[in-house]
Amino acid sequence: MNLLNDKKLLITGVLTDDSIAFSVAKLAIEEGAEVILTGAGRALSLTRRTAKKLPVSVDVHELDVTKPEQAFELAKFIENKWGRLDGILHAIGYAPPDCLGSGVMKADWSDVGVALEISTYSYKLLAEAFLSLLKNSKSPSLVGLDFDASAAWPTYDWMGIAKAGLESLNRYLARELGPYNIRVNLVAAGPIKTVAAKSIPQFGQFEDAWASRSPLKWSTKDHEAVAKACLMFFSEYLPLTTGEILHVDGGFHAVSA
Ligand SMILES: NC(=O)c1ccc[n+]([C@@H]2O[C@H](COP(=O)([O-])OP(=O)(O)OC[C@H]3O[C@@H](n4cnc5c(N)ncnc54)[C@H](O)[C@@H]3O)[C@@H](O)[C@H]2O)c1
Repeated sequence: MNLLNDKKLLITGVLTDDSIAFSVAKLAIEEGAEVILTGAGRALSLTRRTAKKLPVSVDVHELDVTKPEQAFELAKFIENKWGRLDGILHAIGYAPPDCLGSGVMKADWSDVGVALEISTYSYKLLAEAFLSLLKNSKSPSLVGLDFDASAAWPTYDWMGIAKAGLESLNRYLARELGPYNIRVNLVAAGPIKTVAAKSIPQFGQFEDAWASRSPLKWSTKDHEAVAKACLMFFSEYLPLTTGEILHVDGGFHAVSA
């Protein structure tokens, strides 16, 4: 028996095979799940190419979270295909350049609004668009990817604030969706080299901080530790855990200088 036997999962955020979501999709398939991937806008063709690197052929659909109608369209498709969803991975983050690397004073609302819509509000959009499909599952689970927002980081700026909102939204969604037996949890990852990470100015600062402070040896190339935590939340092994933020950061969050 595999960990995710017969689970039907929707996985957002696969861009390249460096994407954290790619490792989640690959491990989930190896553990018996069926997955559908989504990609956004011009990057959709890249998502389709990356999908070919998975062990089985999977459907790839367009889902740009700034176009909510695409989420509702996809929900109709999944209704016909599977009739339910056992899990959704939210692996979506973006902030315009002025939101990162210049402190919080430079960006104006038009940029901040984009960062919050794509990186924070979209968690609720996924919950809303796919709610009826999640309700049809025996053990539904919504999982998002977070970067610890309990402190102010250098250069992460408005993305840090978007993640703080995501952490709060995670608790509110847990409260509202609990009565439907839907678990809602975040995995707070340490720094990992991905396309999104490359857009963070001086990402090397995070690598250096983790190299000197993380109790467990941290590798920015290891996507699997984070992916495995996501799999645990999709599995039957955490049936009464919701509103949680699980740190997969080598223990960095627990120690000080
Ligand atoms: N890489 C890290 O160090 C790290 C650490 C903690 C948390 N995270 C989080 O992990 C998640 C996945 O990021 P990643 O690091 O794997 O990078 P990635 O670049 O591979 O993935 C980011 C994804 O966001 C998607 N996206 C951007 N705008 C979108 C939109 N409008 N609609 C739908 N999708 C959109 C991109 O298509 C891409 O697939 C993000 O939420 C990120 O903040 C990353």
